[in-house]
Amino acid sequence: MKKKTLPRPHPVLIGLMGCGKSSIGRRLSKKLKMPLVDLDEVIVKLAGMSIPEIFARHGEAYFRELETEALSKKIGKKVILATGGGVVLREINRKLLKAHPPVIWLKAAPEFLANRIAGDSNRPLLANQDALQKLSTLAEERYPLYAECADLVIERDGIKKNEVVVEIINFLHKRLNT
Ligand code: S3P
Repeated sequence: MKKKTLPRPHPVLIGLMGCGKSSIGRRLSKKLKMPLVDLDEVIVKLAGMSIPEIFARHGEAYFRELETEALSKKIGKKVILATGGGVVLREINRKLLKAHPPVIWLKAAPEFLANRIAGDSNRPLLANQDALQKLSTLAEERYPLYAECADLVIERDGIKKNEVVVEIINFLHKRLNT
């Protein structure tokens, strides 16, 4: 009898800037031999310019339009999806995320994130701002939205990237076997 192959779960990574969505996504991609799509890169291709340029020339609202377009294109594909930190802001995006589990929230405290991304010029939301203060405001606003979409929450603080990867892989295996 032909062995049935179960559909493999394709994780979507969410969380605030600096929580490691892209770098953990890359490690997962190697381990699972599954392609990684970084949503910010898709947006840059769609716009033909960098993220700071999109914000500077067209504003955040336009960036969010492109983000929804990119998410709609890529969600549900056989890839690991690393999203941008603000992907949960729009209800339409949250609906898309919830319809395509598993969604994994890499949860980290603003203090942890501020240390990692201090001085990063590629993040317009932090430009000319106190990073810790801004990240604290974003955390307050977005934590409930991440929680609404997440099937798994991983606390990033004090955990090495490799350990996060192992935790995600164990979770995916469990999902396959239940
Ligand atoms: C944003 C996060 C960024 C990028 C854009 C907006 C946000 O992605 O999408 O600068 O609103 O938090 P990362 O989370 O990958 O830094």
